[in-house]
Amino acid sequence: PLVNGTELFKAARKGHYAIGAFNTNNLEWTRALLQGAQDLNVPILIQTSMGAAKYMGGYEVCQKLIESLVKAMDITVPVVIHLDHGDFEAAKAAIAAGYNSVMFDGHDLPVDENLAKTKEIVKLAHSKGISVEAEVGSIGGEEDGVIGEGELASVADAKAFSDTGIDFLAAGIGNIHGQYPDNWKGLHFDRLQEIAEAVPQPLVLHGGSGIPQEQVEKAISMGIAKLNINTECQLAFAKATREYIEAGKDQQGKGYDPRKLLAPGTKAITDTFKEISGWMGTKPVK
Ligand code: G3H
Ligand code: ZN
Repeated sequence: PLVNGTELFKAARKGHYAIGAFNTNNLEWTRALLQGAQDLNVPILIQTSMGAAKYMGGYEVCQKLIESLVKAMDITVPVVIHLDHGDFEAAKAAIAAGYNSVMFDGHDLPVDENLAKTKEIVKLAHSKGISVEAEVGSIGGEEDGVIGEGELASVADAKAFSDTGIDFLAAGIGNIHGQYPDNWKGLHFDRLQEIAEAVPQPLVLHGGSGIPQEQVEKAISMGIAKLNINTECQLAFAKATREYIEAGKDQQGKGYDPRKLLAPGTKAITDTFKEISGWMGTKPVK
């Protein structure tokens, strides 16, 4: 069934495990993720970035695609359809399209404006039973070939966002989107500890791809309940597709048939989902 993220992530923080928040880009990606969740009997959050939603034809297409696949594939585990890193307009559009959950990412706004807009989204979303994620500090990432560290979230800001009534909070704690540079200093566990003490809501770790497993496990034990993964699936998809083509398999039989060509990458996404869910300790549903 489709559900919002509120109770799922509360239970995860309380039980010291995390639930995967995986980005989707198309039909294959969505099927692969749903299949992995169903095989393991675990809940899943499937999210679209604004860019991916645009690529797929808009928020309604995304919502209807995921909802229809849940039905057609007889998916019985809880599924959350979530907007990832949405601006104010995107959050409103995703709410209107029937998403179960939205992230309003106002990290590039002045804090007061970010707080005010977050409150507005919370009010609108909660009136429709939709959960809300906000971002405090910022997540690092690549810009013009340089990988930035992101801005460490302050405890006071984290508390202020918590007080807006959001359902889960993403905090910048040295995490980075995309691949981690060799000289990465690791997660700021001291700050995570302080934030976890000040914020009762489940915490979200963005940039989940490429963080060493021990660090992820430690972060989960401290209050991270939602682990965002995108790049890891992209790498797995690209590798499997490249191997298929380089082995000349697209030249044999009807290997160029798109359904055959996309199959190895699709399976690689399901496998990646299962592997990561295993070390997040995601609890199976009863
Ligand atoms: O919001 C999406 C995630 O933070 C994904 O980050 O691509 O580094 O796994 P990642
Ligand atoms: Zn992110």
